[in-house]
Amino acid sequence: MGKVFVHSLGCQMNEVDSGKIRAQLALDGWTATDDPEQADLVLVNTCSVREKAVDKMHSTLGEYRRMKRSRPGMRVGIVGCVAQERGAELIKKYRDVDLVFGPDGVPKVRELVRASEQQRVLDTEFLDLEAYPFVQENDPLPSGIGAFVTIQKGCDNKCTFCIVPSTRGAEASRPHAQIVDEVRAMVDAGAREITLIGQNVNSYGLKTPGEITFAELLYRVAAVPGVQRIRYTTSHPRDMGPDVLRAHAEIEALCPQLHLPVQSGSNAVLRRMKRYYTREHYLKVVDELRRARPDIVLTTDVIVGFPGETDEDFEHTMSLLDEVGFVGSFSFKYSPRPGTPALKLQERGEVAPEVASARLLRYQDRQRELSTEWHRSLEGTEVDVLVEGPSRHDEGVVCGRTPGFAMVNFPGDVSLVGSTVRVRVTRGFTHSCRAEPVA
Ligand code: SAH
Ligand code: SF4
Ligand code: F3S
Repeated sequence: MGKVFVHSLGCQMNEVDSGKIRAQLALDGWTATDDPEQADLVLVNTCSVREKAVDKMHSTLGEYRRMKRSRPGMRVGIVGCVAQERGAELIKKYRDVDLVFGPDGVPKVRELVRASEQQRVLDTEFLDLEAYPFVQENDPLPSGIGAFVTIQKGCDNKCTFCIVPSTRGAEASRPHAQIVDEVRAMVDAGAREITLIGQNVNSYGLKTPGEITFAELLYRVAAVPGVQRIRYTTSHPRDMGPDVLRAHAEIEALCPQLHLPVQSGSNAVLRRMKRYYTREHYLKVVDELRRARPDIVLTTDVIVGFPGETDEDFEHTMSLLDEVGFVGSFSFKYSPRPGTPALKLQERGEVAPEVASARLLRYQDRQRELSTEWHRSLEGTEVDVLVEGPSRHDEGVVCGRTPGFAMVNFPGDVSLVGSTVRVRVTRGFTHSCRAEPVA
């Protein structure tokens, strides 16, 4: 065969899918490379969650199509969410692209790549949900101290702004025995921290007769020897049940940190987004989480400028930011997505782009202040850092995270990677802390 390079755009689901692609192609003799110049096959794993992500696909693809001009034997593919959404259009537009398939093409990638030797391939069929063929093989490229493990595919929610349900299809839960096996394999390969991923992880198992619940899954994963830390993402505020809260109180390895996307602080906007919870419900969940795990640290996702969002609605989002005290947010300007229900709302009340931009700036400024305050509040305290690798900026400095997900840099060498080191925080910045080892 030859060498394969997978370029991942988008979320962690895509990162993991890219690894699963490499793992399966390895069975056919393909070697994974991280250098596209060396590759005989380049796959761009795309994201369509916002228009900007789609723009990124076009520019990334441009590079590889240029490369292909001087290396005619090379094959180029577009995979992932944009491929699912616009496959037919893309294969028509880019005559030099060899194959196009969506997220459900990942389990059949060997077949699809083989077929592309003979002819151009387009596959955007969704696979049968009963006995969904979750890929068991693991990424041949080393993943390091933190490993991501897929526990479900797709999404059954219908948030009106979101394209994910149409790019990834309906939800299916991966059998728990497979998940536990993969966790074990990751630990054997050197992982210390496991992040369980899916679009809506706390609905895990609910629709599969006989499957365990998400909370039970957390206990099973925690029982795997060698798992030091567990995180999960993303969960939906509506599905945060008492059993998950109990897991936060009881499971030592479950980190005191949660990314819980709220999207908006205004009930009117939440209703139009079809999130199926209120601001009050969200605050109640936060309260319960803090009772279960007083040191829990919260981050969120926010959309500003959703159709019909008034100044007052936006003030509710600003006040929620302070009321919860999020230590970090991914915040976005609403981006209209093809085929989503919010397009109809947009006809009735679009927020002017400059208004949305101003709101986003204000939100991000306040978030930056809160993030800085949080990192500063750690000054003088001792924290346990799981060392991930050398600092990208400073020689003789390593970095890693606290259980609460603060990024910490401190003097040390790479022999520390994989170990947990107790350090004292000396300075807090906006995105990270500085520390010294405790003697
Ligand atoms: N399943 C996850 C993540 C979905 S995509 C969840 O429900 O939380 C990640 C984030 O992108 C979302 O939380 C949302 O904040 C943002 N997002 C999704 N669609 C968007 C759109 N059309 N415009 C702007 N942001 C969007
Ligand atoms: Fe991930 Fe969503 Fe992008 Fe798909 S569209 S890759 S699920 S962020
Ligand atoms: Fe699903 Fe999240 Fe959207 S739960 S519908 S992907 S915001």
